[in-house]
Amino acid sequence: MSMLASASRSVRLSRGIAIQKRGYADVLTLPGKTAIQYGAPGRSASSGQVATVFGCTGFLGRYVVAKLAKLGTQVVVPYREEDEKRHLKVMGDLGQIVPMEWDIRSDQQIEECLRHSDIVYNLVGRDYITKNYDFEDVHVTGAERIARIAAESGVPRFVHVSHLNASKDSPSLFYQSKAEGEVRVKEYFKDATIVRPGSMYGYEDRLLNNIAIWPIWWKLNNMETKIRPVHMLDVAQVLASFSSLPATPGTYNLPGPSTLTYEYLLSLVSSVTYQPPSKAPVVPKSVALALAKAAQYIWWPALSPDEVERRFIDDVDVEGDWASLGVEPSEIEDFAINYLRRYRSA
Ligand SMILES: NC(=O)c1ccc[n+]([C@@H]2O[C@H](COP(=O)([O-])OP(=O)(O)OC[C@H]3O[C@@H](n4cnc5c(N)ncnc54)[C@H](OP(=O)(O)O)[C@@H]3O)[C@@H](O)[C@H]2O)c1
Repeated sequence: MSMLASASRSVRLSRGIAIQKRGYADVLTLPGKTAIQYGAPGRSASSGQVATVFGCTGFLGRYVVAKLAKLGTQVVVPYREEDEKRHLKVMGDLGQIVPMEWDIRSDQQIEECLRHSDIVYNLVGRDYITKNYDFEDVHVTGAERIARIAAESGVPRFVHVSHLNASKDSPSLFYQSKAEGEVRVKEYFKDATIVRPGSMYGYEDRLLNNIAIWPIWWKLNNMETKIRPVHMLDVAQVLASFSSLPATPGTYNLPGPSTLTYEYLLSLVSSVTYQPPSKAPVVPKSVALALAKAAQYIWWPALSPDEVERRFIDDVDVEGDWASLGVEPSEIEDFAINYLRRYRSA
């Protein structure tokens, strides 16, 4: 039973009045702080904790915020675009979701966002370089800045999301920057928890949705690239559970349970969506790179040259750390229909 599940029990008196009774299980001891939980477990409870989720407006972020809010944790949700955080507001009870505007280059705003928090999550990441931010700005300097300010502000826990393939020797600049980001985070926050998920699938993913819309770009490398897709809800569950675990320093690999080729994923998407297999040709890498470079000049995100590079890199063959975290990862075949049904023709 989780600590929150055993949280405040209400005792119903004969006159029908409910009172709260606290036990030792209701007291969650965090480094430097004792949080008193109250209320029945769930959205209207209070875990006594405050969390800040940088990158909450992204794909994974919304599920992490939802899971934390459901535990009764007050969640600070830093945002850049006013409209990007609206859906987060309803995930928690009144006053439990606290939106705050931030800029990744502003020490002051970062400090304001995290100074009251017991745990800080850094989910900030970008698959492609933009006009204003390169991979270094987002994954290295940005991560370092958040970790440094969290440490200076005395935040007890820091969770940083990297990538399963993060490596300084990778041909992909994205994976290189993720590896460098991990080093910088650990430099400033020694007991940081680093999480390395594989490619994630879910409603707003850039895996199943992208395969359904752009099968041609998943035929690169003769469809032989092998990846280990992981369900975003499993990753979000692990991230949320860190808030109630005593201490979790170290690096956790979170690959999916199966290693699948692009060929398998293309046929899975085709069978679930009832769309015939794509007849698009296999584009050579040099042509794909040239097209991706040209596409940098259009003003909406298209396949970037670094993403082309990544489509030729197999996911690393490392053991997952799921068992130690109490979560069993799901198979993609069990959930693909949920996320792909919308691509079936009427
Ligand atoms: N998706 C995957 O398959 C996958 C797999 C392994 C690891 N990861 C990592 O997991 C983390 C979350 O992934 P995700 O799929 O949720 O990413 P996402 O949907 O692209 O969301 C990224 C988040 O980072 C924020 N962000 C990006 N650039 C920023 C900048 N310059 N300044 C401030 N905020 C910025 C975005 O804010 P805005 O909304 O304001 O742009 C958004 O909240 C990332 O670090 C990613 O690299 C993802």
